[in-house]
Parts: sequence; structure tokens; C-alpha cells
Amino acid sequence: DMMKEVSGLKDLEKQIKSLLDIKDVIVVAGDSDLSPWVKKEMGRACVACMKERLASQSIVAVAGGTTLAAVAEMMTPELKQMDILFVPARGGLGEDVKNQANTICARMAEKAMGNYRLLHVPDQLSDEAYQSMIEEPAIKEVLELIRSSNMVIHGIGDAITMAERRKTAREEMAKIKHRHAVAEAFGYYFNQEGEVVHKVKTMGIQLEDVKKVKHVIAVAGGASKAKAIKAYMKQAHHSVLITDEGAARELIRE
Ligand code: G3H
Repeated sequence: DMMKEVSGLKDLEKQIKSLLDIKDVIVVAGDSDLSPWVKKEMGRACVACMKERLASQSIVAVAGGTTLAAVAEMMTPELKQMDILFVPARGGLGEDVKNQANTICARMAEKAMGNYRLLHVPDQLSDEAYQSMIEEPAIKEVLELIRSSNMVIHGIGDAITMAERRKTAREEMAKIKHRHAVAEAFGYYFNQEGEVVHKVKTMGIQLEDVKKVKHVIAVAGGASKAKAIKAYMKQAHHSVLITDEGAARELIRE
């Protein structure tokens, strides 16, 4: 019986690692679709993972979402001596304030007793305003910090769930559906092959940049995210995945 075969979290981790062909996987107990505290457990695991990998004076780029908000809540002050700088990974993506990268970045830095810089830029900008904004010295400086980050932490979402939550415009929504997007991460939408089918236009880190960052940690759990995780990880083999039993078992079942 499948459930017996995959019992034990260490065993699950091994299976997911080879199934997705990724470097490192941490699986926490439970299913965050069913129990909200499981997100906090993923948060705790993420914080431990960050501490193992961070060097002094690192720059950490933080994405948005409820999972990353849980990571921020679980952050502890041991990084204080290391002089870590937290920055938002990208600008606004149409989320509520509590789920925005800026908010989570500031909260995480406070809890870590580190420093932070924010991107003060509206979500919707005309091309003209955008071009002049990125030339503003204060914005430029933060964008350069983001581009030189040593670590990126982000969530992965189900594409349609995320597009709906962000009140995506009708035309954009049609494109996301028509192109069979299944996964979303930091404003990029991916099909089941892991190919980008749409991206939200916002400043900050781009997918090409993420691929060059030394430590990338993806945090996503819940059985409902299995398809999204599978798709996203197809183009993120060097990332660490922190997930839960719910997503892991569903991934194996598929
Ligand atoms: O950017 C948001 C993530 O892709 C998923 O968000 O952690 O709230 O599910 P979530």
C-alpha cells in the first residue's frame, strides 16, 4: 500500500528529491490546506535552512504571499550579529498589503533584528512613469541591492488561485488560462513544463536573475499545490524546496 511505502518524512524527502530532481527538500508533517499551523512549521524549517546558508552581510530578497508571511513570523533574532539586509524580491503584484513582499520583508527584518530597504513604487505604472522611476537614485539603489542578493526566498502558488486573488484584469486572466498556466512564483506564471507563459510587469528581481542567485529557497505546501510545485521545480533544479506532507504525498500519487 502506497501510504505505508512512503511513511516517514525522511523517506518522503528522498522520494521528492529524486522525483523532482532537485538538490534539497525538506518535508514537514501535516497538510497546510487542512491545518493552518503547518505553514508555520514550513516557516520554522525555512528559517533553519536560511541560517545554515547565510553568510555575514548577505542580502536576502523576500517574495510575497501567505506562506512567506508565515516564514517572517517564525524568524528569530540569532542573525543579529550577521548584519543581514532584507529587500523585497519584486515590486507590487496586486496583493493585499499583508501579502506584499515589502510588508513581509520589513516584518522579517524586524524579527531577525536585521536591516531592510523597501521598494516604494505603485503597482500599476505607465511605461513612461516606469522608465523614469527606475532612474530615480533611491529606487535605483534598492534595485541594485535586489540584483546583488545572495539568497531569494519565495512561495509557489496555483496559477488560477493566484491570478484570482490578485484581481487580475480580464485579458490577462484569459491569457493565463489560454496558455495553461499551472504555477505562479514571484509574479511569473508557468505551464506544466515549467515554461513561463506570463509575467506580471513589476520591477525587482527577474527570473534570469533568480537563476544566478546562490541560495534560492521555495516554500510551498498543501496537496492543492502539488501540480504547481511540480511545474515550477522543472526549471528550478538548483533550488531548495520546503514543503509539507500533504503536497509531498500528492506529488507521489500523481
Ligand atoms: O506569490 C505568492 C505565492 O506564489 C503563493 O502564495 O503562499 O499565499 O499560497 P501563498
